[in-house]
Amino acid sequence: MRIGIIGTGNIATGLAGRLVKAGHQVMFGSRSASKAQEAARRYGAQGGTQAEAVEFGDVIFLAIPFTSVQGLRQSLPGLRGKVVVETTNDWMGQSKQSTTAQIQSWLPDSKVVKAFNYTFAQILAHDMAKDVERPSAFIAGNDGGAKKSAAQVIESIGFDVVDVGSADDAIHLDHLVKFVVHLGTEKGYGTSAAFKLIKVY
Ligand SMILES: NC(=O)c1ccc[n+]([C@@H]2O[C@H](COP(=O)([O-])OP(=O)(O)OC[C@H]3O[C@@H](n4cnc5c(N)ncnc54)[C@H](OP(=O)(O)O)[C@@H]3O)[C@@H](O)[C@H]2O)c1
Repeated sequence: MRIGIIGTGNIATGLAGRLVKAGHQVMFGSRSASKAQEAARRYGAQGGTQAEAVEFGDVIFLAIPFTSVQGLRQSLPGLRGKVVVETTNDWMGQSKQSTTAQIQSWLPDSKVVKAFNYTFAQILAHDMAKDVERPSAFIAGNDGGAKKSAAQVIESIGFDVVDVGSADDAIHLDHLVKFVVHLGTEKGYGTSAAFKLIKVY
């Protein structure tokens, strides 16, 4: 699949590494095209402006701060109609609803799906050929077709997808992030800690 990634930081590069290895065509989009091109060289991807990456991708990952998503409807009209997988956290507690419901309202013409907000970037950066487990990737969003497309991509990069519901239901994923950070950094489980949903019977 053709994947556009907005951002060139930890989550963006971790995703790109796995996506390229899984055989996807990937383009980074940055506020600075030269920064995207530099990341692209390192990961075997393409790089350009944010608008170019949006145009390129069938699925677009937003790997940028939550608050910087707000202006994208104006700056990136190409997001209209696209599947947009957002990975954000509202660390400042600015949203009165789930991050995903808020982003869906900022991008009303896009099909927004949440994923990876509680996944340490170090896990994405890990060589997936050496993973010893397939963690669960909890996703949420209002559009079933968009979640299907997102799930196809996410499964291909080493995760078992669990659909937890609507954009409003993504509030549960917002709540997970502080718990995983507590486990990983304060309780000593490290940044390879992830969640796996099991059914006992
Ligand atoms: N780090 C983690 O372990 C982790 C885990 C799960 C989820 N997340 C979430 O994933 C998102 C990205 O996190 P990250 O750790 O990858 O962050 P990061 O390393 O700081 O990268 C963020 C990227 O966002 C882009 N960006 C676009 N608009 C921006 C703005 N107004 N201000 C700052 N950067 C802007 C920048 O790319 P350009 O400069 O190229 O435009 C930058 O490379 C965040 O929402 C975070 O909460 C992070």
